[in-house]
Amino acid sequence: MGFAYTDLSVDRDDLRDDVLTGLASSPKSIPPKYFYDDAGCRLFEAICAQPEYAVCRTEQSLMAAHLPEIAAAIGAVEGIVEPGAGDCVKVRRLLDALQPTHLVVMDIAGAPLAAAAEPLARDYPALAVTALGMDFIHDLDAATPYLPAGRRLVYYPGSSIGNFAPDAAAALLARFRQLAGAHGQLLIGFDLKKDPQRLHAAYNDAAGVTAAFNLNLLARLNRELGADFDPARFRHYAFYNPVAGRIEMHLVSLAEQDVNIAGQRVHFALGETLHTEHSYKFRGDEFSAIAHTAGWSLAGEWLHDGFAVQLYRGSR
Ligand code: AVI
Repeated sequence: MGFAYTDLSVDRDDLRDDVLTGLASSPKSIPPKYFYDDAGCRLFEAICAQPEYAVCRTEQSLMAAHLPEIAAAIGAVEGIVEPGAGDCVKVRRLLDALQPTHLVVMDIAGAPLAAAAEPLARDYPALAVTALGMDFIHDLDAATPYLPAGRRLVYYPGSSIGNFAPDAAAALLARFRQLAGAHGQLLIGFDLKKDPQRLHAAYNDAAGVTAAFNLNLLARLNRELGADFDPARFRHYAFYNPVAGRIEMHLVSLAEQDVNIAGQRVHFALGETLHTEHSYKFRGDEFSAIAHTAGWSLAGEWLHDGFAVQLYRGSR
């Protein structure tokens, strides 16, 4: 039925503004969505192949093992909407099982998204594929004109919801509720709380791929904002914080140094951190309490080796 790509990422100064705001705050921070330039997307795929990082593999095994039950619980849908679709691989299983007529995929990395989504239109000739290059975290409303009529399933796999603090996660889930519309559903995957050593290892892989992913952010800022970060003077530092229930990922300054960025000079003290990511881990009941505040009620749950997929329907 065809393929269409639309670039809705209108505000090109977002990166500059967000980075300067983040560097002016205490502690310094940069939103994790900026990891995903072309190199960052490739490094994230490489993380998923590391023996220590089981999130992607485990979710795929879970979906393979439980697909018939999950599809039966979802029932008939006309459209699947996937924010943050990335390489568009995970949704294929649902396309096979649910056979919707419309798929809308969105990602902040528009060009890689378009390249990944176009083959779906060839492989599923009865499917209309719409790819939207957009910052769905900022401006999900921009997607409204592209949503298919009929029953919609919002699909948010990969534990991406863990990259939001609980308040922000609840706000995003509430926007997904609007995106899903009347009789809409949400299928969401998230990483469960588990042995902290296992979590620690997942973000400190022996091959150093997660470190390269984290440090790639500095290379992006050098290239796109004319910054002069020396990546050798920052250390990837990630750990599990059991009080907050999250992995924290940082780039710690190994020296007292000044960095020039977008015409400004930013000072880093020795040992000062640039916080780059939180990755929250949940218990199933904790997560459904958050989803409930966003207007979702739990309709199904599937668990596999420390990972959960939950199905929600609108509760109001
Ligand atoms: C995309 N997101 C769910 C990953 C995570 O586990 O938080 C990103 C990642 N960061 C380091 N490794 C993987």
